[in-house]
Amino acid sequence: AKPTEIKVQDQTFKTDDWTNATPRILELVGRDLHKDPNHPIGILRDLIETRFQNMGYTFYGDFKPVVSVYENFDVLGFPADHPGRSKSDTYYLNKDTLLRTHTSAHEHECFVKCPTEGYFICGDVYRRDEIDRTHYPAFHQLEGARTWSRNNFENEEQMLTKIQQDIDAIPKTEIVVSDTTPPFDPETNPKQSYMTDKETALVGQHLKRTIELLVNEVFNEAKKSAKLAGSTEEYLNEPLKVRWVEAYFPWTAPSWEIEVWWKGEWLECCGCGVVREQVLTNSGIKDTIGWAFGIGLDRIAMLLFGIPDIRLFWTLDERFKSQFKEKTISTFKPYSKYPGTTRDISFWLPESKEGFTELHENDLMEIVRETAGDLAESVKLIDEFTHPKTNKKSQCYRVNYQSMDRSLTNDEVNSLHDASRSILAETYGVHLR
Ligand code: PHE
Repeated sequence: AKPTEIKVQDQTFKTDDWTNATPRILELVGRDLHKDPNHPIGILRDLIETRFQNMGYTFYGDFKPVVSVYENFDVLGFPADHPGRSKSDTYYLNKDTLLRTHTSAHEHECFVKCPTEGYFICGDVYRRDEIDRTHYPAFHQLEGARTWSRNNFENEEQMLTKIQQDIDAIPKTEIVVSDTTPPFDPETNPKQSYMTDKETALVGQHLKRTIELLVNEVFNEAKKSAKLAGSTEEYLNEPLKVRWVEAYFPWTAPSWEIEVWWKGEWLECCGCGVVREQVLTNSGIKDTIGWAFGIGLDRIAMLLFGIPDIRLFWTLDERFKSQFKEKTISTFKPYSKYPGTTRDISFWLPESKEGFTELHENDLMEIVRETAGDLAESVKLIDEFTHPKTNKKSQCYRVNYQSMDRSLTNDEVNSLHDASRSILAETYGVHLR
């Protein structure tokens, strides 16, 4: 049974129908990997923040990950039916409180209190998700934003001149913007009516040059480490190639995403856009224009440090932690590999939903995570079919159990697996096969 209250970082929350944050997830809250200067996440954060020193930004890293639904969604203009709000995607403490799903949850507060024109926010964020080497329910983001207030200028022309000067002051990079960048389409990615075309164009340019500077800094380090690890691919000796593609976020317009050419693929890397007026006016700020972006740190840190599995960031094993030193990008040396062992879970879904909770794939992920924790390396749906006569639906998931620190015994794996099977049958009424 669910406890009536849960405690997170000295705060107590009453539980309700929305509560789905599990003890294992709550254990991660407060680890603050982004504040550890000797941890890959902290080292990457420092690399970026160092690049942006003395450029008019305030750096925040202390915001608590427990936020209100208002801060995470409402103030940013998320529509009521946005999938991000659902219990299958987000960890709720109760109907009003959740573990932030992005650092944008603090834009509102920062626009109000930030003493400089711009700010960076770094923090841990939480999303219910699949289980594999690159997905973990907790990860890290770095948010950036920058504004210009019309009230600080005598006229429009003066403000435009200042934004242009600010663009010119951004250090130049060798980045090549690929000609596969789709043309900007004001039909599908419209500007806001409270801004002029010229303002939108200049704010957009300042945003893009800023992100190019950031990405260039980080990926040039990633290239160095790929070369050190023995990679001889040609693109590693060429200037970084990027492209800008259209995106959608409820609180920016227009919106984009930057993609970086990496290992023969376009790697999606950072969502951004021109801040919507509503976010600023909701913060009591008028006559102001600006931009915001958010970049995920974990996947990039995996590239920089050659880390093969995202779970390693959270290990307490000294053989991992002792390998990293502040301000240094080094290549991770695996201390040993322990073999994985797979077990399948097959079941018939209940014929009628009556009396049962519908099973979402993320619910199954959560059950495995709760019983096996970081010993679950991946969970994959490997088979699904509907019986032609009875119309009953069957699913089979394969769990790979593998520890990064030690060998697992068969008995141990069997008992974890049996525990997951029982919970699945009891909670969701499935018929195990
Ligand atoms: N918060 C967005 C995400 O999680 C990224 C973003 C930040 C987009 C700021 C636009 C502006 O993907």
